[in-house]
Amino acid sequence: MADTEVILDTAAKDLADRIRSRRARVGVVGLGYVGLPLAVEMAKAGFHVTGIDVSEAKTERVNAGDSYVGDISSKTLAPLVESGKLRATTDFAAVRELDTINICVPTPLRKTKDPDMSFIVSACEEIAKNIHSGMLVILESTTYPGTTDEVVLPTLTHNGLEVGRDFFLCFSPERVDPGNPKFQTANIPKVVGGCTPACTELGRLFYSQALETVVPVSSTRVAEMVKLLENTFRMINIGLANEIALMCDRIHINVWEVIDAAATKPFGFMPFYPGPGLGGHCIPIDPFYLSWKTKQAGIEARFIELAGYINGQMPHFVVDKVRDALNDASKPVRGSRIQIFGVAYKRDIDDVRESPALDVMLLLKRMGATVTYSDPHVPVLHLDGVNLVAEPQEAVQTADCAVIITDHASFDYPALLQRACLIVDTRNALKRFQSDKIVRL
Ligand SMILES: NC(=O)c1ccc[n+]([C@@H]2O[C@H](COP(=O)([O-])OP(=O)(O)OC[C@H]3O[C@@H](n4cnc5c(N)ncnc54)[C@H](O)[C@@H]3O)[C@@H](O)[C@H]2O)c1
Repeated sequence: MADTEVILDTAAKDLADRIRSRRARVGVVGLGYVGLPLAVEMAKAGFHVTGIDVSEAKTERVNAGDSYVGDISSKTLAPLVESGKLRATTDFAAVRELDTINICVPTPLRKTKDPDMSFIVSACEEIAKNIHSGMLVILESTTYPGTTDEVVLPTLTHNGLEVGRDFFLCFSPERVDPGNPKFQTANIPKVVGGCTPACTELGRLFYSQALETVVPVSSTRVAEMVKLLENTFRMINIGLANEIALMCDRIHINVWEVIDAAATKPFGFMPFYPGPGLGGHCIPIDPFYLSWKTKQAGIEARFIELAGYINGQMPHFVVDKVRDALNDASKPVRGSRIQIFGVAYKRDIDDVRESPALDVMLLLKRMGATVTYSDPHVPVLHLDGVNLVAEPQEAVQTADCAVIITDHASFDYPALLQRACLIVDTRNALKRFQSDKIVRL
């Protein structure tokens, strides 16, 4: 965005003063993986923060200083709650007392792969009942370009408030990477784009109180598209890595060795790795927000569809590997006990949303296998109407096959190699080991 000075009028100036002096009352709607870390960061920066969530269980835990988000320890949360800097409520009447609101509610896809805007709409309707002049509202939920202008803005302006003059509205994509020890809310650069230059300026000012780097862009649509580009880039490159893995498998080449060697090129190459399929709340879902939107404009998102197809094949490929490995050991899948290592969608986290482990487990179960799992981060797993309880890692001793789906750092890989009779490794977690027991992706 051009580096021009934005002239703020009265309401904006007042809000800017409150933000600079940390007197602004900050609100965060949706206290999940994204909202709670943001609320904590703002409270650490000296603001009084109110979290609003529809889940009473979550607000009670926040108010007890008891964190349920992996990246936030209760040790960090509790003192903020005790000092009165952070509190949580289910009551949207709290909005009346707030100066800023960040909306961090879920944006899933419907079964038809259409965006489900219902959480954003319902949060905005509640905010609209209590909105007042001089507020800054920032949508952070990942969504299709146009959502802030077309869905949020009309909901908030129904009572005659004018955006850019009476209240201020921005979109700022959330880039949090749960479980990443190096990059967390405070040091991940934050992109923000507002409905007007005054909105963008207030958004920039707000984040810069607590976050190291803020990147203003010219509009909400640009900010919305930034997030979709980032996640589409990742999804398509993983799709390419998966397709290369399928090719390498067919012509008997170790794909992991190929990628590691290619990654020694100091320019023009960035390694992506194959795996059992995409997981999580973002990478498998967000690109379909873009394809849904562009379809309306008459453009097919062909890369997205193709990568979605290839990535969707990976759980089947893993199951084929397991079946072939068992067959080579003269054991049919039906009746075998197969122990899955790692059901979270990525290493060292507890989130199982969209995890490919669930697909692999269901496919194996339908083929007649008895499927168990070990995951130090997921003590209980709801699968196919049943609650499974995590097995100790040693239970692999009596399994016919182990399948590493998620390479948690805390797995004891040497012990696994010793105890298991057969291991299908979808993450190259056993890279350091050579054994006939190992079947690599
Ligand atoms: N988790 C990630 O790694 C990640 C990363 C980047 C972006 N995002 C995006 O951020 C958004 C939030 O994701 P998340 O992972 O934090 O989700 P989450 O499910 O962990 O948290 C969302 C919270 O919103 C609450 N909620 C739902 N409806 C509400 C309403 N109407 N009013 C108030 N609270 C409500 C839920 O109870 C829940 O606590 C999504 O759009 C997601 O795509 C997530």
